[in-house]
Amino acid sequence: MSRILVTGGAGFIGGHVTKILLDEGHDVVVLDNLSKGHKDSVDKRAQLIVGDMADPVKTKEALSGADAVIHMAGLIVVPESVKDPIKYAQNNVLGSVSLLESMRETGVKKIIFSSSACVYGTPDTLPIKEDAPLRPDNPYGATKASIESFLQAYHANFGFDVTILRYFNPYGPGELHDPETHAIPNFIKSALSKKPIPLYWKGEQVRDFIYIEDLARAHTDVLSLAGFNIFNLGTEKGVKVKDVIDKIFEIVGFEVEVKDLGERLGDVAANYASSERLHEAVGWQAKVNLKDGLKQTIEFFKK
Ligand SMILES: NC(=O)c1ccc[n+]([C@@H]2O[C@H](COP(=O)([O-])OP(=O)(O)OC[C@H]3O[C@@H](n4cnc5c(N)ncnc54)[C@H](O)[C@@H]3O)[C@@H](O)[C@H]2O)c1
Repeated sequence: MSRILVTGGAGFIGGHVTKILLDEGHDVVVLDNLSKGHKDSVDKRAQLIVGDMADPVKTKEALSGADAVIHMAGLIVVPESVKDPIKYAQNNVLGSVSLLESMRETGVKKIIFSSSACVYGTPDTLPIKEDAPLRPDNPYGATKASIESFLQAYHANFGFDVTILRYFNPYGPGELHDPETHAIPNFIKSALSKKPIPLYWKGEQVRDFIYIEDLARAHTDVLSLAGFNIFNLGTEKGVKVKDVIDKIFEIVGFEVEVKDLGERLGDVAANYASSERLHEAVGWQAKVNLKDGLKQTIEFFKK
């Protein structure tokens, strides 16, 4: 059992990761400034410290006695990052470096970081492997690539144990972003309220949708790793976005209009992961298929 600090633990993914850590017997402290997250998403068994990762007083309080940090705090809205790159650089990059400094000063030297497939931009080949070039095509992705570089430097200079998890497209119960820019929650909410489903590129884009419980489990699987590691976290199955809509219709038992929004600049046509490296390192594999994951997600939004 260890004591883990989860930054951004009041968010969608952080809420699930906190719960799985607690279920496995770890102590969890959550540090979140609640700029986006929800207090109610934090499991009652965890200690919540409301504060910003850039505030060394709060982060050091949260780091007290911790064995490791799972670092998920950050702003995540790609279009907003295009409009206001400085806000994203300040919050995500400088906030993370500030957190790393607090870790160094308190002697907590293990970190697992929530990165993103956005670091790759448009891939040359599929499935994407971890050694593919990093060419983020928006400022949000650039913050992730930049934080990854700082983590490499903290590993090289200060001996930090670092594991970078590059998530593909997480979805599942509890996804309550505002604004919501992700396809699956928007499709489900539109369908359930019998409104037209907004669809870009006629749904021809290929994505790797990974169910939140599979994604959360990977964080506990990598907890014991040392050194410097980078892993893709995806199902390894590319799915056309329009096929997701068909599955949602099948599950809810009715169809609604699909509204064609044309093309959207900056979207990658296709991406899906090779997660072979993570499988080989810790035996992790996605278990929940898209239909079962969608069923659970639809149940959540019905409530
Ligand atoms: N959801 C996805 O599709 C996805 C995909 C790839 C990577 N990620 C990464 O996973 C992590 C979690 O994503 P999520 O979907 O749960 O997002 P989320 O917005 O639900 O959660 C992020 C949390 O971070 C908190 N936060 C933001 N800035 C902070 C700061 N300066 N100090 C303290 N807390 C701060 C917010 O209040 C929020 O609770 C993020 O780092 C995100 O970039 C998410």
